[in-house]
Amino acid sequence: MRISGKFVPLLGAAGLTVAAALLTVTPASALDNGLALTPPMGFNNWNSTRCKADFNESMVKSIADIFVSSGLQAAGYRYVNLDDCWAETKRDSGGHLVPSHVRFPHGIKALADYVHGKGLKLGIYTSAGTHTCNKAGFPGALGHEQTDANTFASWGVDYLKYDNCNNQNVDAVKRYTAMRDALKKTGRPIVYSICEWGKNKPWNWAPNVGNLWRTTGDISANWSSMISKAHSNESHAKVAGPGHWNDPDMLEVGNGSLSTTENRTHFSLWAEMAAPLLIGTDLRKASATTLGILGNTDVIAVDQDSLGRQGTIVSSSGGLVVYTRQLAGGDRAVLLLNESGATATVSTTAAKAGLPGAASYSLKDLWSKATRTTTGSISAAVPSHGVVFYRVSAN
Ligand code: GLA
Repeated sequence: MRISGKFVPLLGAAGLTVAAALLTVTPASALDNGLALTPPMGFNNWNSTRCKADFNESMVKSIADIFVSSGLQAAGYRYVNLDDCWAETKRDSGGHLVPSHVRFPHGIKALADYVHGKGLKLGIYTSAGTHTCNKAGFPGALGHEQTDANTFASWGVDYLKYDNCNNQNVDAVKRYTAMRDALKKTGRPIVYSICEWGKNKPWNWAPNVGNLWRTTGDISANWSSMISKAHSNESHAKVAGPGHWNDPDMLEVGNGSLSTTENRTHFSLWAEMAAPLLIGTDLRKASATTLGILGNTDVIAVDQDSLGRQGTIVSSSGGLVVYTRQLAGGDRAVLLLNESGATATVSTTAAKAGLPGAASYSLKDLWSKATRTTTGSISAAVPSHGVVFYRVSAN
């Protein structure tokens, strides 16, 4: 618990209430690097480019430019993150990582300077193993944690995604803790993203190690993959909070076979679960519809709510699922999801969604923007694979 002993004797009745509230939102041993107090928002190239040649300096700079010009930066997106394949396969003679001369001819420091010049932040990737996941054999940081953390810090990196490939069966907690400590020693604030795919039950130990941790294997750009990641992630709601988040993987909004309805569902589910919002579509080619979904500030406000509670399931039956998420100030974000193959009515009540008793409630539909009042029933016709997403306030 973060309340140090010296303050405890000063707590009166009101103080104890505050202490109890702190206890419920801050696990005893949460990583305290002061970062990611709301879920990280940004971009990562993996879901769109993988290791194809167009993952390069010009792409990354364009993404930063588009963040600014499209309004995504104003909507809260900050991190421009590089995934696997940014490096040369060999370290230099001093044992340092070397950026690919082909993809990043001016190096990562110059790229970070460019991104920082836009008021944005730069993220990078490596693996807690001997090599990263790509079969070309890019060097991993196992046994090189401090050297690589120092290199990243010297380049001005603000975020590290730390993968799990080629881990030589070294204990995961040991591997991920070693990098946590190395990052801390650099003295640079670096968001730490643990990517061990939920293999070692990270929800039990990662809140003390990283700012976010993957709870699942890799997402693909189709309905069944996306919805299965959401369902795996939702059971770990209790351990999420400011500075430490469950990560059901990066967004596929705008990719693959996901329809517009499914993309809205995907984005809404991630917001309801306080998940990181890392855009995975190539923004240079994104449609106005995709940009509109990613830029929905009402949905983003749910994701970024300062209380940092992850939404939970109120009811689930026959593919009709109701979630509720407590928000700062007393509102609830109520998400009605229809996984079935036909339009269906999905219903709950204000009381079941955790709202206090009141004469009436205001419902704001976060996609249509329509508002209405109700005396308690929260119900809507929801299309197949769709959602209706309400922000509910007691009047
Ligand atoms: C793993 C990760 C992905 C991506 C690739 C890169 O599969 O889970 O998110 O980083 O490696 O090789």
